[in-house]
Amino acid sequence: MADEGARRRLVAADEQDDDTSAMVALRPQTLTEYDVGQGRLIEGLRVAITAARQREDVLDHVLLDGPPGLGKTTLAHIIANEMGGEFRMHSGPALERASDLVGLLTNLGRGDIMFIDEIHRLPSVVEEYLYSAMEDFRIDFVVDSGPYAKTIPLELEQFTLVGATTRAGLLTPPLRNRFGIFHHLDFYTPEQLVKIVHRSALILEVELQPEGAGQIACRSRGTPRVVNRLLRRVRDYAQIMGDGRIDGAIATEAMEALGVDEQGLDDLDRKYLLALIDYYHGGPAGVTAIAATLNEETDTLEDVVEPYLLKIGFVIRTPRGRMATKRAYAHLGISGPAPEPPGAQVNLPLQ
Ligand SMILES: Nc1ncnc2c1ncn2[C@@H]1O[C@H](COP(=O)(O)OP(=O)(O)O)[C@@H](O)[C@H]1O
Ligand SMILES: [Mg+2]
Repeated sequence: MADEGARRRLVAADEQDDDTSAMVALRPQTLTEYDVGQGRLIEGLRVAITAARQREDVLDHVLLDGPPGLGKTTLAHIIANEMGGEFRMHSGPALERASDLVGLLTNLGRGDIMFIDEIHRLPSVVEEYLYSAMEDFRIDFVVDSGPYAKTIPLELEQFTLVGATTRAGLLTPPLRNRFGIFHHLDFYTPEQLVKIVHRSALILEVELQPEGAGQIACRSRGTPRVVNRLLRRVRDYAQIMGDGRIDGAIATEAMEALGVDEQGLDDLDRKYLLALIDYYHGGPAGVTAIAATLNEETDTLEDVVEPYLLKIGFVIRTPRGRMATKRAYAHLGISGPAPEPPGAQVNLPLQ
């Protein structure tokens, strides 16, 4: 299945190996460990948490938005750690019925953190119950229907909802407006990723030299999850092919062997660019058409391929579809027309 192909990608930002003990050990537990220089964003969260704790208050609801692998789930855990509440993790699409949600909400204690991942995929019948739960910490649960319908008012303990989404634009305004804190996560800079890879190497007890760290960081698509995965693969390679130490040369060699190029692109990225360039003459082409050409899911392309290609300016979004830029042609070593559309905006945000 196309989707499974995407899941096996080494540089994919999805959660394929997050549960392994090595990956769990790498997850920062506190804001200080998490902050690799994100500046104002993390500072804002730190102020909100400290202020709420001083007042012995419950933290406002938090919405975390950004591409996969940048640290939304990690931040949600950290919020629970810092606030000292119980952490309850749920996934939007799995909360199918309103009664599921009502059961979970009534079990929350004061100050607990209810984390809903992929909150944009919450069914609307369930979402509607969240409105009053978030705003007034109460729900009017309707049981039965028609003439037998009864409303049961339920008081809830004050809790903090932490929602995570890769598509904040798909959230309905009533839901979005009920979050007091909104935190957008962006791709990390190479310097931030270098810090992360050094920290991870320390935890995994791998000897990592600065050039090796730089190589891994610049091929990790701005994504901490990819950094950690590449580090583990390069560690294996260095252990078998060298003396276990990761220097610049062995890191480069390992990642070339793994099919990850110096921009962090893998086969799927290159297939995407080649389809756009060869098949659609550089675009504009709709993402659905590209997905059909590649036999991939549109969602896969939109979630795990395009964000990074947009970010590094290999692809632009225009009202008529995606277009490959000169940079993409140059990277693939293809000469040819890379039409730059008049007035096209580079790196339009995804929503
Ligand atoms: N700021 C950070 N510093 C260090 N490691 C991080 C940071 N953010 C994320 N990570 C690492 O990246 C991995 C993916 O993060 P996660 O929170 O699961 O991403 P998301 O939920 O946004 O997909 C985690 O296992 C964690 O180790
Ligand atoms: Mg997550």
